[in-house]
Amino acid sequence: MTNIFAYSPTTLKQAAETIRQGGLVAFPTETVYGLGANVYNSQAVANIFAAKGRPSFNPLISHIAELDMLSELAEADSRTLALAKHFWPGPLTFVVKRKNLSSALDLVCAGLRTMTVRMPDHPIALELIKTAGVPIAAPSANRSQSISPTTARHVFESLGNKVDMILDGGACKVGVESTILDLTTPQAVMLRAGGLAKETLEDFLGEKILVSHGNPDLPSSPGQMLKHYAPRLPMRINIRPEEKKPDEFYIGFGAMDGQLNLSKSGDLTEAAANLFAFMHLAEAQSEYPAIAMAPIPETGLGLAINDRIRRASYRS
Ligand code: TXA
Ligand code: MG
Repeated sequence: MTNIFAYSPTTLKQAAETIRQGGLVAFPTETVYGLGANVYNSQAVANIFAAKGRPSFNPLISHIAELDMLSELAEADSRTLALAKHFWPGPLTFVVKRKNLSSALDLVCAGLRTMTVRMPDHPIALELIKTAGVPIAAPSANRSQSISPTTARHVFESLGNKVDMILDGGACKVGVESTILDLTTPQAVMLRAGGLAKETLEDFLGEKILVSHGNPDLPSSPGQMLKHYAPRLPMRINIRPEEKKPDEFYIGFGAMDGQLNLSKSGDLTEAAANLFAFMHLAEAQSEYPAIAMAPIPETGLGLAINDRIRRASYRS
């Protein structure tokens, strides 16, 4: 049986309720289908990564339906607001400074102090976000490394029953992902070419836009723009409790307990949901000058967790 639901006021309500309760809903946007979860529910966001089989935690775009939702999440300066008023709803995503530093948003933002926000130009997406009453985090609704989905059937073929509901809104009219524009620097930088042309943005801004030659979809590629979260304190990983030094704050996993435990039951999805928030807590405490983390199994979401903590522990 498929979990594809034709759009109707009833299925829309059901989808909004699913989002609110922490479920996953694939929904149409004008660019590609998104795999959505409530941005404030880290467990639900962790489930997005699990469903996609993503080997790393890329930060996700928060989808909003009203400009008020932007100021709830991020610092919006006059340039950002002018662009938003002109191009939203539309295939344009902004990188902006985070205003909401709640740890609930840490996984969506991959621990960064910046975040991406966009208002999609699709009536079903907008109604879903408004009815759910929360911004919706959504990468493209396909398994990692496969082609982006532009129909409900593509989503089903790629993710099947890993999502609670697929809302069918027909084929996406743009068909490529949104253009990503970094507005955290004086001169805007295009991080990803997408559904809105660079020239159109330049005409509106009256100035040139820089182009990043890193690929934000490949965070390990050299020259990438994406700054990775690195804790202020030195961090060692793969440390068993008996190897921990007395001056290290220990983040445990499963039976290897510490000041914090990513998941006492050894559940990697729960561990992913806690990861960034715990790293922030570990560096905010003042009793220990260093951090150590228990070994995390290299399976399922463990790959993404290990990818992140490897980067976070790296010292040049
Ligand atoms: O059209 C789209 O944008 C689609 C639909 C569903 O809205 N979504 C989409 O999401 O393409 P995703 O997760 O595949 O791409 C988001 C991109 C990633 O390359 C990520 O690295 C980048 O945005 N990104 C997210 N937050 C960022 C940040 N704070 N700084 C820099 N890049 C960021
Ligand atoms: Mg994608």
